[in-house]
Formats: sequence, structure tokens, C-alpha cells
Amino acid sequence: MAKKPLPIYVLNGPNLNLLGLREPEIYGRTTLNEIGKMVAKQAKTHGLSVVFRQSNHEGELIDWVQEARTKSAGMILNGGAYTHTSLALHDALRALDKPLVEIHLSNPFAREEFRHHSYISSLAKGVIVGFGAGSYLLAVDALASLLEGPAA
Ligand code: DQA
Repeated sequence: MAKKPLPIYVLNGPNLNLLGLREPEIYGRTTLNEIGKMVAKQAKTHGLSVVFRQSNHEGELIDWVQEARTKSAGMILNGGAYTHTSLALHDALRALDKPLVEIHLSNPFAREEFRHHSYISSLAKGVIVGFGAGSYLLAVDALASLLEGPAA
């Protein structure tokens, strides 16, 4: 029997469980649960399945990045505030060895200076910021095209 293709991992960092409630003027009104459903639907159009998770704990996110080394085809990561602080997340991602797309709902470069540095960006194939929940859907398309390889 043909082996089932590996899923893409979509990981979400701290406070993203509060989407829809938290600063909606910045992050929009779509909940993370709704985004998870939209992502699964979009991924399906590319024949991809999704593992969609959120954690407020740095160590748990690192465990999931390590898990993704063998269990995923690639990753979309919204690291939340750990984007700007976590050297440990950076090191875990260095060992991922799968295509990585970094995303943010807001545009961190249009916000406070402490959001301008990312420990993730240098390891990502690409970065998508500022499109609200749409950042996730654009990232699914981007990761799918990376997985499909260069256009003929
Ligand atoms: C965020 C941007 C980060 O600066 C912030 O800490 C978040 C959300 C975004 O999706 O816009 O928690 O990652």
C-alpha cells in the first residue's frame, strides 16, 4: 500500500489562543479555531493534511518542532512573542530540516521596534506578515508550492 504523505505542521505560539478576543483591531476577529478550519480546507486543495496546534509554553513548542523533524512535510509557524525572544526555538528550528514558512497576522515591522527582530526569519524559506488570518492561507499556498518543487 502507498505510504500516506506526511502532514504539514502549523504551530502557534503564546496568546494566539485568544485570537478573536485579544486586540481585535490588530489581530482581527477570527478565532484560532476558525483559522484551523480554514487552513485544513486550504491545505486539502493541495492534497495536504494538517497538524494544527497552539501552546503558551516555549518547551512544548520546541518538543513539537523536534517531533516535526520526522513527522511533517514542512512547517508554518506563528511564534507569537517567542519570535522575538527565543533562541531555544531558533536552535530547534535549525535542526528541523524541512521547509519553514514564518507568519504573523500583524506586520511586526509596522509596530514597536522590539518586534522588528525575529529569531525565526533567518531559518525560514519565506515570511508572510500583515494579512490577518489571510497570512495563514497564503502560507499554505506558499508551503504547498515549496513542497511541489520548482515550477516546470
Ligand atoms: C504576532 C506578532 C507578535 O509580535 C506578537 O507577539 C504576537 C502575534 C502576529 O501574528 O501578528 O503574539 O505573531
